[in-house]
Amino acid sequence: MNIIKVKTNEELSAKASVIIASQVLKNKKSVLGFATGSTPELTYKNLIKMYQDGILDFSSITSFNLDEYCGLEKTNDQSYYYFMMEKLFNHINIKPENINIPDGTSKDVNAECASYESKIKQAGGIDLQILGIGLNGHIGFNEPGKELIYETHQEILTESTLKANARFFKSMDEVPKTAISMGIGTIMSARSILLLGSPGKEDIINATISGVITPEVPASLLRLHSNVTVIYVCS
Ligand code: PGA
Repeated sequence: MNIIKVKTNEELSAKASVIIASQVLKNKKSVLGFATGSTPELTYKNLIKMYQDGILDFSSITSFNLDEYCGLEKTNDQSYYYFMMEKLFNHINIKPENINIPDGTSKDVNAECASYESKIKQAGGIDLQILGIGLNGHIGFNEPGKELIYETHQEILTESTLKANARFFKSMDEVPKTAISMGIGTIMSARSILLLGSPGKEDIINATISGVITPEVPASLLRLHSNVTVIYVCS
């Protein structure tokens, strides 16, 4: 793993946006895997600035998001679709038809998961997957447990995740209890991975990069991948 320690979220976001920009400059038809959450927000702002400054062109990229809550409409301001449009896609020249986010309102969740997985394959796989990390070590919504699921699937969110994400909702009861998430195999199939640890994630990043490799810390599986960069904020 290529491990980069930084002091601030600004530094993390500056370095992360340069890595993503390099991928787009190297291949304008890149397939990018995007994450939601507070961690990548400033990184996305930096990408918007690079687009506005004429440095980056997103017109030929394809995107796949890691996950989406089940049961939230696209118009719900807590859906990950809404987040991506607000925080990035509405401000760059990505083609709407090249944006892929799981449909959390699908009546047939299993069919939606299978179709999402096959769309990723049809696009030739993901060149660069951006990841945040949960305090419990989850990546996407692959929650800690005795086993991990390989492909895109419906995941039951743990108490720790419900609590962590309650800050975005009026109450914990409103946090959706399930989500569609890329599986651990989907993530590991990306050709390169960028894992971001925002302030407060130092302990779980340390467990990821130097503890045992275990499904109890899903991010630790990333140590088995040959092209992972970790940028995290250290105190
Ligand atoms: P955060 O979430 O970026 O809002 O901290 C990350 C995650 O839970 O994967």
